Order: sequence, then C-alpha cells, then structure tokens
Amino acid sequence: AELKTSLSHELRSRLTPQLWQLLTTASQAAEERGWHLYLVGGAVRDLLLAEAAAGTLMITDIDLVVDGFHKSADVGAGVELAKALQEIYPVARLEIHGAFQTAALLWHKDQDLDSLWVDIATARTEFYPYPAANPEVEASSIRQDLYRRDFTINALALRLTSPRAGDLLDFFGGLLDLEAKQVRVLHANSFIEDPTRIYRGVRFAVRFGFAIEPRTEEYIRYAINSGVYDRTAQTNSKTPALQTRLKTELKHILEAPYWRSALQLLDDLGALQCIHPTMSLDSKLIRQLRLLERCLRRFDPQQNLIPWQMRLEAIIAHLAPKYRGKVAKNLQLQEDSIQHLQNLAAAKTEIIQSLSEYQRPSQVVQLLRKYNLEILILIALQSQRPIRRQIWQYLTVWANVQPILNGNDLKKLGYKPGPQYRQMLDDLLAKTLDGDITNPVEAQEFLAKQYHQ
Ligand code: CTP
Repeated sequence: AELKTSLSHELRSRLTPQLWQLLTTASQAAEERGWHLYLVGGAVRDLLLAEAAAGTLMITDIDLVVDGFHKSADVGAGVELAKALQEIYPVARLEIHGAFQTAALLWHKDQDLDSLWVDIATARTEFYPYPAANPEVEASSIRQDLYRRDFTINALALRLTSPRAGDLLDFFGGLLDLEAKQVRVLHANSFIEDPTRIYRGVRFAVRFGFAIEPRTEEYIRYAINSGVYDRTAQTNSKTPALQTRLKTELKHILEAPYWRSALQLLDDLGALQCIHPTMSLDSKLIRQLRLLERCLRRFDPQQNLIPWQMRLEAIIAHLAPKYRGKVAKNLQLQEDSIQHLQNLAAAKTEIIQSLSEYQRPSQVVQLLRKYNLEILILIALQSQRPIRRQIWQYLTVWANVQPILNGNDLKKLGYKPGPQYRQMLDDLLAKTLDGDITNPVEAQEFLAKQYHQ
C-alpha cells in the first residue's frame, strides 16, 4: 500500500523512516481487513502548517481513526488493528480503553520509535442509519467522527489506505482556516459542552500566532457569560472529568514558552472565570508572576520546583483566602499544593508580623525554617519589599549557612556526644548567622564559656 498522492509524499518526507514504516504497516493491516485508516488531529494540522518549512516533523502523538464499512460488526476495529500492530511491534505497549473501544500503542524513549504514543479509535458510526452498502457511509462515519472535534484545524483527516491514499478530507474548511491563520470552532455550543475547549482554542491561537475567529469568540464569551464557573465547579458525576481536563489544559499552557500571552488572552476573553468568578489577571498578579520567574531561575536547579505548578499556585494564591482551598481542590491539584494554598494566609500573617519585629538573622532562620520553599515563595511574592528581601536572603544565603564546627569537631574538642550536641550546634549556628562568631577559635571560646568545658 504505497501512499501515492502529493500529501503522502509530503508526509513521507516529513516523518522519520521508522514512523513512515509504522503508518504503512498500519494501513496495510487495515486494508487487509477491508477498512480505511485515517491520520487525524494535531499531526495532520502540524504537517500542513509546516509545509513551507523543511526538515523532519517532531511528532510524539499520532491519532489514527479506523473506519469499518460494516458498522456494527466492526465497532472494535481500532482495538483489533492495535492488537495486530502490537504483534508486529512487540516492544510497544498496548493499552485498551474498553468504554470507548479505543486503543493506544506506546513506545518508550529508548526504543526504535522514540517515545511515541499512537491512539487508534474506531470512527463513530452508531448515529448513522444508512445501509452499509451506501457509499456515503464510508465518508459519513469519518465525517461524523471529525465533526465531534473542537476546531476546524483539528478536524482534518489524511487517508492512509488505498484507493486515494494521501487524500485530505476537509469537511469543515480547516485548510482555509490554516491559511487564514484562525481558530474556528465547529459548533455554536462547543464551549458550553466543554469549557476546556476555550483554553485549547487560546493555546492553539497563541502557539501558532493565529487569531480566534470572531464568531468563535462570540461563542466563547457567550459560554462564559452563561455561568461557566457554576457548571465547571458543580459536583456531579461529570464534573470531575471536566476539572481534570481544565487542570491538564492549565498545565499545557503554563509549561509552554508562550504562557504569558496565553494567560493574557484568557483574561481578555474572561476565561479565567472558569477557575473562579473573581479571577482576573490584574497588574498585581502580573508583577507577582514576574517575580516568580526570577525566583524559579534562581531556585530551580537545586530545588526541583515544578514551574507550571508554582505558576498555578501563584495564580490561585491571588484569590481571596477563603476561595483558595476550594479552587485547588476542585482542580484536583496535588495534596501538597492544596496544603500550601490552604495554609498560606495563616503563614503569611505570622511571618509578616514576626519579621517586622525581628532584628537578627538567627531569629529569621528560626522562624522561616518551619516553612517549605513553595509557601515561602508564595508569601514573598505577595509581600512588601522589606519582607520579601528577608525571605530572599533566607532562601539564598542564611538557609545554607552551617555552624562553624560540626559534631566531629565537638567530639575532638572533648565534648561528650549526646542530646546536648543539637543545642550546641544550634547555638553555634545562631552565633555564626548573627556574625558573633567568625572562625573556629571564636567558636571554641564561645562553647567553653557557654558549656563550661
Ligand atoms: N479534542 C476535542 N476536544 C477536547 C480535546 C480534544 O475535540 N476537549 C480533539 C481535537 O480535535 C484534537 C484531538 O481530540 O485534535 C486530539 O486531542 P489532543 O491530542 O489533545 O490535541 P492535538 O490536536 O493533538 O494537539 P497537540 O498538538 O497540543 O497535542
């Protein structure tokens, strides 16, 4: 099944030989069973977008749709095809998602097809009452499958099987929208049904430098004004999935290099209300996020902070204290993130009050070492400069100061090992921090005086 037309040529020249081989093998297996196989979604979009450029496409996700002609008999076509492929590629891991009859094949980093994820679905034909013999059915089921999707640029399909392999199926004007550089939704109530699509639309717009098509923007605003938060935050059986998807979209956005522009566009559209009705990107929050970036550059190498998670925590921390915990829980953030956000207000009060009274570094260290790095950063972002300076100073300098003598030194000096060591080392650390002791001799003198040796 050599793919023939110009798009197959395009595809072949843009994929790694291994990936091309996989697609060829998959389409052969589909043809043998009398099915059609389509490449859909992001890979087709990216292929067409990159047409002008040269070089191999970096593809890590492939979406395939199998279109079985004989609808009811072949509902499991995607799964069957995935199983057939797994026999040919035994290193790939097979996952079957029963409820939707979809399958995935996964290759890990060190394998032939470098960290690749291939989803194989069966075109949804169940709503189509046509007899199987009707030639329209073939096109109709893939059309139906594409029509369920979010944007026209994501609803293109490239046929991999013969005859007419390499044909582009463009039912909704996706190609024109790619050329016009716009993100256009497929149906009016798309965002009402799935508000996370607002975030997806923004992500695609910012990532590709596209505009959101005016009618699409109207639909977005309409969905937001019709009480988007009440729907996303409601607790019924459907919302956990919605909240998880919202978190996933926020993660995608907040870990992308274009996260600032995306956040700005979300705010312009009023879409931050999906997180909470009072959420907006005001100048204070912008400043805090800028400070956070400095902080991340400074601490990331040693501390394993997760930048997108810190950004999200800073955003949620900008809400009034009473909302923070609930929003963090709704979004199903990790337990430690929820803890930071719930404890933030109390910690901030204590820290601000104490720091404005403390004079000595040792006092600051004693106070701040009770708190973890994330919460200290969140407090620093929200505080006035003098407080922020002290927290910074603690994080960058004071937290790393060691007492001038260690346990071994104490032993050599003849102090009897025991619980007292802790106190002695703490005292030494405080004296070191405050500059009262600057060398081992002074340290010994201090100990001798304090502990009568
Ligand atoms: N999709 C959708 N609505 C969603 C999520 C996904 O309609 N809320 C559809 C889109 O048509 C998309 C396809 O499912 O093309 C696959 O989704 P995903 O892999 O998340 O997106 P990609 O388009 O592949 O984008 P990316 O390049 O960011 O992976």
